[in-house]
Amino acid sequence: MPRIALIPGDGVGPEIMDAVIPVLEALADKHGITLQMEVYEAGDETKKRRGVALPEDTFEGVRKADATLMVAVGETAKEVILPIRQELDLYVNLRPAKSYPVPNAVQGFDVTIVRENTEGLYVRAGWTNGDTAIDLRVATRRGSERICRYGYRYAKEEGKERVYVVHKANVLLGCKLFREVCSSIAEEEGFEYREMYVDAAAMRLAMDRPFDVIITTNMFGDILADLAAAYIGGLGMYPSGNIGDDKAVFEPVHGTAPDIAGKGIANPMATLLSAAMMFKWLGYREAGEDLERAVWRACELGYTTPDVGGKMRTWEVCASVRDLILAR
Ligand code: IPM
Ligand code: MN
Repeated sequence: MPRIALIPGDGVGPEIMDAVIPVLEALADKHGITLQMEVYEAGDETKKRRGVALPEDTFEGVRKADATLMVAVGETAKEVILPIRQELDLYVNLRPAKSYPVPNAVQGFDVTIVRENTEGLYVRAGWTNGDTAIDLRVATRRGSERICRYGYRYAKEEGKERVYVVHKANVLLGCKLFREVCSSIAEEEGFEYREMYVDAAAMRLAMDRPFDVIITTNMFGDILADLAAAYIGGLGMYPSGNIGDDKAVFEPVHGTAPDIAGKGIANPMATLLSAAMMFKWLGYREAGEDLERAVWRACELGYTTPDVGGKMRTWEVCASVRDLILAR
C-alpha cells in the first residue's frame, strides 16, 4: 500500500490540494489502489507559526512516504524544496512540457526537460562581504553521469529520439565536465550525441524545436522550463517530478500565485498531471494514463480555469475530471 505525503503549502496550494484529493481518491478506487495519504505542512505560514518552513515532522513524513505530492510554497520555497531534493538525493527534475488542447497552447508542443537537481548553482554555497557575492557552481562526474543516463533511458522508454545535451561548455568548467561525461554516455545508451549551447537552445526552443528531450544542468533547466511553459498555456499546465533512486516528490512547476490565491480560480491541471506522473512512477501506469486522458478530455471540453481560456473554478475543474474518470 503506497504511502503518499501531501503538502498543500501556501497561496493557491491549499485550495488546489483540497480540490485534487477527491480526484486522487476516485482514481485510486477505480484502479484498485489503496493509498495511504497524509497531509503535512510546510512553507511561509508554517514558518510564521512554528519558526521553520520545513518542520521535522513534515520532513519525516516525506522520508517515510513512498512519494510526495506538493503544490506550492512561497518565499520559503528554497528552505523547503531544496533541502528535500538534497537530503533525499532527488537528482532528477523531470519536466515534460506537453501541450494539452487549451487555446493558448501551441498544439503539438512536446519537449521534456531533464534537469539536474542537486548540483550546479543550487548547492547554496558561497560567500559575500556586502560588495561582492560569490556563488559556487558545482559539477561532479557522478552527478553528470547519473542525470545523463536518466535522460537517455527516459527518452528510450518514451520513444523519444532527438535528445540534446544543453550546456555552456565554451565558458564554464562545470559544463566542460558535463559535456565530456554526457558525450561518452550517449553512445553507451544507444543515442547519437547531440548538443547545443544553452543560449542557442533558448532560441531554438522558441523557434523550430529540434529536440524531444533536453538534458541540462540545474539552473539552465530551471530557466528553459519556464520558457517551455509559455508554449503549453502557462505554468498552470506544467507538472514535474523530483526523482531519486527510491523516492520522489511531484509538484507543479508553478508557484503560489498570490495574486489569485483565495479566489478559487487557480488551475489544478499542473497538480493533477504531477499526480499522474506520481502514479506512473509508483508503478501504476494505467492509473496515471487514465488521469492524463481525463485531463486531456476536460481541456477539449473547455472544463478549465480562466488562465487557459475557461470559465470554471478550481473545484469545478476537479469535479469534472473526477466525473470523466468515473464515467469510463
Ligand atoms: C522551481 C522553482 C525552484 C527551483 C525554486 C523555488 C527553488 O523555481 O521548482 O523551478 O528553482 O528549483
Ligand atoms: Mn523554477
